[in-house]
Amino acid sequence: MGFQIAIDGPAGAGKSTIAKIVAERLGFTYMDTGAMYRAMGLLFDAQEKFPETEEEIQEACNKADVSIKYIDGSQHVFLCGEDVTSKIRTEKAGNTASKVSTYGPVRKKLVEMQQALSASENVVMDGRDIGTVVLPHADLKIFMEADVRVRAERRYKQLLEKGVNSDIEVIIKDLKDRDYQDKNRAISPLKQADDAVLIDTSDMNIEEVVEAIMELYRKVIEK
Ligand code: DC
Repeated sequence: MGFQIAIDGPAGAGKSTIAKIVAERLGFTYMDTGAMYRAMGLLFDAQEKFPETEEEIQEACNKADVSIKYIDGSQHVFLCGEDVTSKIRTEKAGNTASKVSTYGPVRKKLVEMQQALSASENVVMDGRDIGTVVLPHADLKIFMEADVRVRAERRYKQLLEKGVNSDIEVIIKDLKDRDYQDKNRAISPLKQADDAVLIDTSDMNIEEVVEAIMELYRKVIEK
């Protein structure tokens, strides 16, 4: 087994930005597990009727062919052979992902896939249940938090950079709804693992957070 770094936390805390940089510096594989839930959400949305009963959910899961590939070092997500990497980056896809991630068969399928993919790699994996469920024996676990207004402001700026004008109050409401759903679902809710280190990124810039994790990494390998 390789060296495993698990990063969990709520939407917009900066997990993927940070995880990507840390993985690059260490020469590890970065795995964005949220992208897999987003691809599943896309598939559920594409059904004639959004799967809600146990039978419908299982059927959708059976036909879901989700896979990831690394192209020029970055993760691409494929759904039934189609590269959906850009399609899944909308707010709607995030909300649908949060909804389908409450379904047991969806989680089972993706957790097994994530565990298989990371079995023999050095990885930095980010998500909601990485330290608690996917990689319970990870060498380093981080729980990344940030004030909801700070997270909303970051998202607002990201959208603005893409030329999308949005309403910060709507983003705050969206983040709060998603936090609630992710923290209160019955299966593998978002929570800090007992042995995870809490990093509140509200007043930190990207480099400071990356350096904090690199320092924790150095401490682990010196042990
Ligand atoms: O990190 P993200 O915004 O791309 O994740 C989208 C949704 O997917 C998130 O709101 C909850 C779900 N998710 C999950 O349940 N478990 C994970 N390991 C990753 C994401």
